[in-house]
Amino acid sequence: MKYMTGNEIRKAYLDFFESKKHLKLHSFSLVPEDDPSLLLIGAGMAPLKPYFTGKLVPPSYRVTTSQKCIRTGDIDNVGRTARHHTFFEMLGNFSFGDYFKKEAITWAWEFLTEVLELDKERLYVTVYPDDTEAYDLWHDTVGVPATHISKLEDNFWEIGPGPCGPDSEIYIDLGEERGCGSPTCSVGCDCDRFLEIWNLVFTQYDRTEDGKYNLLAHKNIDTGCGLERLASVVQNKKTNFETDLLYPVIEYAANVSQMEYGADPQKDISLKVIADHTRSVVIMIMDGILPSNEGRGYVLRRTIRRAIRHGRMLGITKPFLDGAVDAVIDIFGDVKDFSELVSKEEYIKRVIRIEEERFAATLVQGIDLLNEEIDTLKANAQQILPGEVGFKLYDTYGFPRELTEEILHENGLKLDDAGFAHDMEKQRNRARSARAENQAVAVPDLSGLDTSALTENAEAHEADVVAIWRDGALVDMLHDGESAGIILSTTPFHAEGGGQVGDAGLLLRDVGRIVIRNTKRLPDGTVYHLAYVEEGQLQRGETVQIQLDEVHKLSSARNHTATHLLQAALQRIVGDHVHQ
Ligand code: ALA
Repeated sequence: MKYMTGNEIRKAYLDFFESKKHLKLHSFSLVPEDDPSLLLIGAGMAPLKPYFTGKLVPPSYRVTTSQKCIRTGDIDNVGRTARHHTFFEMLGNFSFGDYFKKEAITWAWEFLTEVLELDKERLYVTVYPDDTEAYDLWHDTVGVPATHISKLEDNFWEIGPGPCGPDSEIYIDLGEERGCGSPTCSVGCDCDRFLEIWNLVFTQYDRTEDGKYNLLAHKNIDTGCGLERLASVVQNKKTNFETDLLYPVIEYAANVSQMEYGADPQKDISLKVIADHTRSVVIMIMDGILPSNEGRGYVLRRTIRRAIRHGRMLGITKPFLDGAVDAVIDIFGDVKDFSELVSKEEYIKRVIRIEEERFAATLVQGIDLLNEEIDTLKANAQQILPGEVGFKLYDTYGFPRELTEEILHENGLKLDDAGFAHDMEKQRNRARSARAENQAVAVPDLSGLDTSALTENAEAHEADVVAIWRDGALVDMLHDGESAGIILSTTPFHAEGGGQVGDAGLLLRDVGRIVIRNTKRLPDGTVYHLAYVEEGQLQRGETVQIQLDEVHKLSSARNHTATHLLQAALQRIVGDHVHQ
């Protein structure tokens, strides 16, 4: 086995499959395209689903990628095991109705034993119990001894609805000293001895939303080989965190916190969490995700805030995460799939800094409050934190629910989920009715505002934000999730009036996406906008790009015209006394 860097392993894999007539594709964005079943891309095959199902014709029937992936299902294990991550790269080779088990199995073996030169004696495989074809290929064609092949019932791979099938996994034995010592320890054991390095899925079914398995028209191959795991093997490291794909971030965090990696297992967990989470956060932002309280943005926010908390646990009191971006760029900057890291460096740092400053402002008070509550619960021999306290931590102190749960869990306590959900629902209802009544944008006293330079211009694509107000008071800054009234220096939005509804659209800035829901006029004629910050933030004085919702504008113009036509017809038939 020869030493290779993570970047060399990725290249060797892609080159190997290119030599087997595969088309090398770039990594797809973490944000799924046209796939509402997924929040984020979590497997190499996820962006390729339409090629498996036949919905789209692939650019080649053999494809290979190194796909950026996010999986948060195991987030609690990150830093505690050698191999769990929220962000990782999955190397894969795919066949859409082209080659099948024989090639997938023999090529995987060839790559591991001839290109990476892994010791055959240390490799083990598993197959689905009924899959005699895969068993025979491993045993007779490749020559793996029966003692190194196991049949496992759970060798079936699926991720929600979509293409799936039985699989065959390849493991490497990392040595008895890495094992749990149990006499039954073998492939499939949860300990660190046998590491799964490659999964070959024989994709033959399409699972429907209601759980039916329909046979696909073609038999396909989907494989997934975790780059970080492979690097830990090739670089002979105890965990993925010590490979060159993660260690630079650990070094950065150790430096900032003045901690020595390897000196204290508890501190090491925090260093590893920061290393893992920083990579996730940086790549999510590179792919256009912004922190918010919903969907992907929430995954990002939760990951950033979790990393910040672990920074605190290491004694870091100043914002530090933006500084870790450089370490991530050092790791990936030369790799084509990550080239945007360099062009977006400043932007990524800014998004992280904004989120970090926002959370830092409340983190300490939140932790103090939670610690007091934990002490009280313990003193009273209680185990459940009331939902309303959890909700207050979320709503007032910006603690993602999972973060509160995690801290409680560390103390052997739990959150009252139902109580939390109840308060959350109450808040949603409040927000809904506030929106309905437009309370959130009750107009404050604007008599001090100089409106003389404000203009209306149907061609305007850009404007400065002159005034913002919330709940009847002028403010300087808006954050995601907030509704507000906004006045722009110039506006192309048509205000409500004369029976026609106001224009809608978007205000965009690099770290903000603001939906304009309606446009109105103040009694003095000044145009203002009813806005909702979907992502990011907005500051008074900033310049924003404007996107008018043309469909909305045209349909409201059509309705308006239709109303006039109807009125004219009624006047002709019924009489001139008919009015709108
Ligand atoms: N799609 C398979 C996996 O993610 C290869 O494990």
